[in-house]
Amino acid sequence: MAEFTGGDVYQAEFDPKAYLEYFKFGEGTLGDEVLEFVLGCFCKTFTSGRLKGETLIDIGSGPTIYQLLSACESFESIIASDYVDQNCQEIEKWLKNEPGAFDWTPVVKYVCKLEGKRDKWAEKEAKLRRTIKGVLKCDVHQSNPMGPSSLPQADCLLSAECLESACKDLSSFRAALKNISSLLKLGGHLVLSGVLGCTFYMVGPRTFSSLFLTEEFLREALGQGGFAITEFEMRPRIDKTMMETSDFSAGYFIVACKEKEA
Ligand SMILES: C[S@@+](CC[C@H](N)C(=O)[O-])C[C@H]1O[C@@H](n2cnc3c(N)ncnc32)[C@H](O)[C@@H]1O
Repeated sequence: MAEFTGGDVYQAEFDPKAYLEYFKFGEGTLGDEVLEFVLGCFCKTFTSGRLKGETLIDIGSGPTIYQLLSACESFESIIASDYVDQNCQEIEKWLKNEPGAFDWTPVVKYVCKLEGKRDKWAEKEAKLRRTIKGVLKCDVHQSNPMGPSSLPQADCLLSAECLESACKDLSSFRAALKNISSLLKLGGHLVLSGVLGCTFYMVGPRTFSSLFLTEEFLREALGQGGFAITEFEMRPRIDKTMMETSDFSAGYFIVACKEKEA
């Protein structure tokens, strides 16, 4: 099992460019399979009309924006966030369309196809750039994860593959869930995606630990945390090659409504 990699290791050694290799969509990387699954789920969820409002906060965005491509059609403003400064800077670079920014075009085109607006990918990029109003530092282990900023509670909270990366054990996961839940209005929705059965993933040559999650634990932790699950999708891993890059066994996607303060 990989040794736990905490925030200080992320800050010192998480290389956004190496991580973004997973998102060279359609090039047969390990990312393709999970990405197709979650993009489909995000599309279905955010185009259903059930989840919409003014504000959405994305927790632990990393250097990626794929998770926000469908959401920007349903929320007027989005705040992205991460613990690692170089990840926030990577998103800023894309927002400003600076030279050297990651090329998300293949992913954006795929999402537009899913949404039935195949030719509108340039408009979608522009819309997402307009909708992301800020990229903030966050730490899911703090009672106010966005401290010292204090944001009004959001209508929607999204987090992709962050809690399993940030948390050392199941009790730390429950605590982090409670911390991020404080950023969400009662009646608002949490959209959580990630991987099950995973103990590590590689970013370039560096191994990062992952908390081994199961469906049972997620259901229980969300219930305890004051959430009612409205959607729980899973997709078992099909491609079992590249196990040395990450050992996850399935992808998951959850939508849950915040019913009470935990
Ligand atoms: C596997 S990456 C996921 C990135 C992105 N959300 C995605 O779906 O590809 C895990 C992310 O969790 C972030 N992270 C690690 N510890 C954190 C913490 N204590 N608070 C917030 N984010 C953290 C890392 O910096 C990294 O960007």
